[in-house]
Amino acid sequence: MNKCEEIEKIEIELLLEAVYRQYGYDFRNYAYSSLKRRIHYYTQRLNIENISELQGKILYDPKLMEGLSNVLSITVTEMFRDPSFFGAFRSSVIPYLKDVGHIRIWHAGCASGEEVYSMAILLHEAGLYEKSIIYATDINEQILEKAKEGKFPLKKMQQYTKNYLASGGTKEFSKYYSCDEKFATIHSFLKENIVFAHHNLATDHSFNEFHIIICRNVIIYFNKQLKERVFQLFYESLTEGGYLGLGSKESLIGSSYSDKILEVDANNKLLKKGH
Ligand SMILES: C[S@@+](CC[C@H](N)C(=O)[O-])C[C@H]1O[C@@H](n2cnc3c(N)ncnc32)[C@H](O)[C@@H]1O
Repeated sequence: MNKCEEIEKIEIELLLEAVYRQYGYDFRNYAYSSLKRRIHYYTQRLNIENISELQGKILYDPKLMEGLSNVLSITVTEMFRDPSFFGAFRSSVIPYLKDVGHIRIWHAGCASGEEVYSMAILLHEAGLYEKSIIYATDINEQILEKAKEGKFPLKKMQQYTKNYLASGGTKEFSKYYSCDEKFATIHSFLKENIVFAHHNLATDHSFNEFHIIICRNVIIYFNKQLKERVFQLFYESLTEGGYLGLGSKESLIGSSYSDKILEVDANNKLLKKGH
């Protein structure tokens, strides 16, 4: 690290400390390289000279904080993202859920809800939605409001239909939403058993015991220490024999939980608590 990079690291750490102490948002253990990239993007967008200046401004301006929080939480998502994950879920996890009385599922880092509605569709098709409750949480309040609406740009539905079919879906996908000129809105029967709520994986605790936890493309933005916290949280929140679903580039390898939550389908990132 050269002198400039060292100073920049100090500036970023001080900014994150200031944000935490003033607003309670804890980004201190997010992966450094992506944090750096996003903070630079934000200072450039605001035409701010350097990170120290941003820190000074943000302390007095909650609106700037809101902007930073939106920039730091990357909310890209899609329905039936990585279709083979949902395919593996259909074949490996659905049989396990058939024997569960009341199914509890947690989607941590649900973003605008596409992944959650995909799960609702999948459970509905397996005849399990009625006896399921899905908790869908995120750190970002604005994105949660969008998720509750379940309203997605119509132009995206073509790709989502392809994903659905590639995941093993066999129904007419369009029967799950209604359309106007620009948007597709998920039918309300698929929203009935979903509870959207704020939850911060960096600071909040377990709030129930789940048969399934899905947390995809979230911990990739965390450093080792924060990942470890999250794995502990998941371990404590999973029922014995329960499943954890991660994103395609995520794993428990190198964590002290890798012998407690075991990979059952390494390609599709499906793991299981216990043996
Ligand atoms: C890239 S999206 C992933 C969405 C979905 N799971 C998927 O794979 O398509 C990451 C989400 O994680 C959320 N997130 C980031 N940090 C978080 C934290 N500490 N606690 C809860 N959610 C967080 C972001 O707000 C964002 O909505």
